[in-house]
Amino acid sequence: MTDESTGTKTADWSPLVPDADGTYAARFKDMRERCPVAWSDDFGGFWALTKHEDIVKACKDPGTFSSQQQFAVPHLDLGFPWLPLQSDPPDHGPYRQVLTPFLSKPRIQGFEPRLRELARALIEPLRERETFDASEEFAQPFAGEALCLALNIPEDMWSEFRSWTWNISTAFSTGNVPLILEVAASVRSYVEREIKDKTDNPGDDLMSAFLATRINGRSLTSTEIHGYYMLLTSAGHDTSANSLGHALHHLAHHPEHAARLRAEPELIPRAVEEIVRFYGPLIGLGRTCTKDIELRDRTIKAGEQVALVWAAAARDEDQFEDADTFVLDRPVTRSVSFGFGAHYCVGADLGRVQIAAAIREFLDAFSEFAPNGDVVRTIWPTQGFRSIPVRVPAVP
Ligand code: HEM
Repeated sequence: MTDESTGTKTADWSPLVPDADGTYAARFKDMRERCPVAWSDDFGGFWALTKHEDIVKACKDPGTFSSQQQFAVPHLDLGFPWLPLQSDPPDHGPYRQVLTPFLSKPRIQGFEPRLRELARALIEPLRERETFDASEEFAQPFAGEALCLALNIPEDMWSEFRSWTWNISTAFSTGNVPLILEVAASVRSYVEREIKDKTDNPGDDLMSAFLATRINGRSLTSTEIHGYYMLLTSAGHDTSANSLGHALHHLAHHPEHAARLRAEPELIPRAVEEIVRFYGPLIGLGRTCTKDIELRDRTIKAGEQVALVWAAAARDEDQFEDADTFVLDRPVTRSVSFGFGAHYCVGADLGRVQIAAAIREFLDAFSEFAPNGDVVRTIWPTQGFRSIPVRVPAVP
């Protein structure tokens, strides 16, 4: 809320305090109705856009809502740009283009059998147990391996890459900046080593693609390459791991949905879309407002931070029928859970295909599975799980 006479803002909400059930669903519903453009005092103060329509407009207008100054709330200035997200047109196009061949739909679909193999390999040792952690022992490592596979990360690097993705997601979910700096330092030494190696021995890997890229006629700097790896280890892992976690948590609580997907596996891709819409694994990302604007009844000033709250837009009653109901086979929607416009998730197909492959293998392996105690949830800017204890029937 803003006091028009003094310009003083009063906080409408805090992203650091989720609802009593650990989610943000009730809070976002209230915000969409009461203060769709909401102010928070956290992270130095920022506006949150919660309506689908406003978020789409903001994504279409990078001149006003710039990603170049910040891509997250709070902004993490660690001395490198988190590419390609932390850039605006016209630079953004070429920055993004280097990733698209690795993440194109046909290439990712071609990985489906290999993704299912990776899922089976992680599931195999779990079959011998009656209890395990579906997040820590399956969803998290699986998402890390799927990312390494898609990005052609050499297999001898997978375990280090996975430790970065795990540590960075721990760091984001606990606000542990020293841990992010620790990961950034390891990634930096990897980047420097790889630059030397791939300059002499180029291949079909990601680093060779970075080294061959030209932006406005120049090569990428090592700082830019560092920024790419940092974004990929965070954006490319947590989102998918959290979505898969939501899928398994949902199916453990709704065995009737698990049974339907076992009987009709062709529904799994639609179920994945609904899981990502309904549970909103990436709650919100950021922009800097570049000029004073009026939005609904609020004035956003030049230089202020703005969060695009994808998870709130995903339940917008003006956009989705029965927005607050989980519909396993919901027809395709205009969900913005993968973003919208120029920065639309370049890894969306990898996310979709890997989550579907993992659900399929999990349902095949376990004819029953049930919740087994309290989950541990993450908070802003992601909503997912650090821990999902499950119980499966003993193997006779
Ligand atoms: C369910 C899984 C995923 C969700 C919900 C998700 C969500 C999003 C969203 C909302 C954005 C838009 C950001 C913005 O406009 O500020 C985005 C962008 C991005 N995502 Fe994803 N993502 C997922 C999986 C992945 C994966 C697997 C990768 C792996 C490469 C990835 C890499 C990226 C990158 C690099 C961008 C920036 C694109 C650009 O700036 O052009 N994401 N994602």
